[in-house]
Amino acid sequence: MLRPLTEADLSVLTGDDDGFDYFGPRPSRQSVPPSDLNEQGAFGVLDGGGEVVGDVSWVWQRWGPNVQSRNPMIGIWLSPRARGQGLGTAAQREMVDLFFRHTAVNRVEAHTDVENLAEQRALEKAGFTREGTTRGAQWRDGSYRDGHLYSILRSDWHSSSD
Ligand SMILES: CC(C)(COP(=O)(O)OP(=O)(O)OC[C@H]1O[C@@H](n2cnc3c(N)ncnc32)[C@H](O)[C@@H]1OP(=O)(O)O)[C@@H](O)C(=O)NCCC(=O)NCCS
Repeated sequence: MLRPLTEADLSVLTGDDDGFDYFGPRPSRQSVPPSDLNEQGAFGVLDGGGEVVGDVSWVWQRWGPNVQSRNPMIGIWLSPRARGQGLGTAAQREMVDLFFRHTAVNRVEAHTDVENLAEQRALEKAGFTREGTTRGAQWRDGSYRDGHLYSILRSDWHSSSD
């Protein structure tokens, strides 16, 4: 389950992580991210008890000069205690569902390190297709890293939700 974040949730989301989502020390989040799907934003990910245990966020990318060629790229972080229980798969699937129901976009993307097997598996379970390798695309912890680009198209979503 996802919901818009509130100020009370921010403390959960400030923990640094030493894994694939760690891009160096960062200041605490000072403000609640927006939940407007058409802008950059984030939602809180809830566990079975309704507690926020992470967030799923998105930025808009462009493959051409026109707005029709825009698409969101999603990212996710869960608190270590909330991992490995299916929440990451469910949250990313729900995010895809929100974009296809409430925007006219044709494509939702995600990107992850070639070594991030948990995220690759979660994305595939959520209906994403791996499209290729982004060589040396991501700077993290002292070196450039290869990643995998994933997408799900509106037509994939229709067939998976039939
Ligand atoms: C990546 C992340 C979002 C996945 O969410 P999650 O709730 O832990 O994932 P799920 O439980 O839905 O599914 C994980 C799948 O990966 C598998 N998996 C986990 N670790 C794995 C590993 N080291 N090798 C292979 N598969 C692995 C699990 O077995 C599961 O697959 P299964 O259901 O077929 O058994 C979460 O672990 C996380 O927040 N990690 C840290 C931050 C991060 O890496 N974010 C993504 C940055 S791009």
